[in-house]
Amino acid sequence: MSPRAKGIFGGEVLNRIQIKLPAISVNEGMARSAVASFVSQLDPDVGELADIKCAVSEAVTNCIVHGYRASTGLIYITVTLLEGRAVKIEIRDRGCGIPDVRAARQPLFTTDADGERSGMGFTVMESFTDGVRVRSKVGVGTTVVLLKRLATRAPL
Ligand SMILES: Nc1ncnc2c1ncn2[C@@H]1O[C@H](COP(=O)(O)OP(=O)(O)O)[C@@H](O)[C@H]1O
Ligand SMILES: [Mg+2]
Repeated sequence: MSPRAKGIFGGEVLNRIQIKLPAISVNEGMARSAVASFVSQLDPDVGELADIKCAVSEAVTNCIVHGYRASTGLIYITVTLLEGRAVKIEIRDRGCGIPDVRAARQPLFTTDADGERSGMGFTVMESFTDGVRVRSKVGVGTTVVLLKRLATRAPL
């Protein structure tokens, strides 16, 4: 993350929501839309909103398919709007955790055995946001924080 983004992300909290939802695939679209709907109050452009949806979708899918695997549990999402048009999205599960976060973040790294996953989820999150932080502990769970800075809108 650039120093500039860091400064902005430290800004004052303007608004915040928390969502808690079962980690089942039918809720992935719900999570993505709910986050986008909340962020809409900052009047992002279509591209910025699409980026956010895409990154959230990857993180939430990871909670469902990796975090809880065959088990079930809850996904906790906190969206914070900060001064300076900055958005912080925290996506947390209490699933299996990641033994080696650095390795997991490498492009094409996947533990998926049936060949359905590309191993590009973290790379997608990184390319569509201004910063990704991952905290994880085996047996405890994983928290992914996505940071997105929205461009200043020209007055109409
Ligand atoms: N929430 C999570 N809980 C446990 N493991 C995870 C989680 N998110 C990611 N991982 C691990 O990181 C790897 C890489 O994730 P990702 O880049 O999204 O690729 P993919 O989902 O295609 O495997 C996953 O294969 C998995 O091993
Ligand atoms: Mg993934």
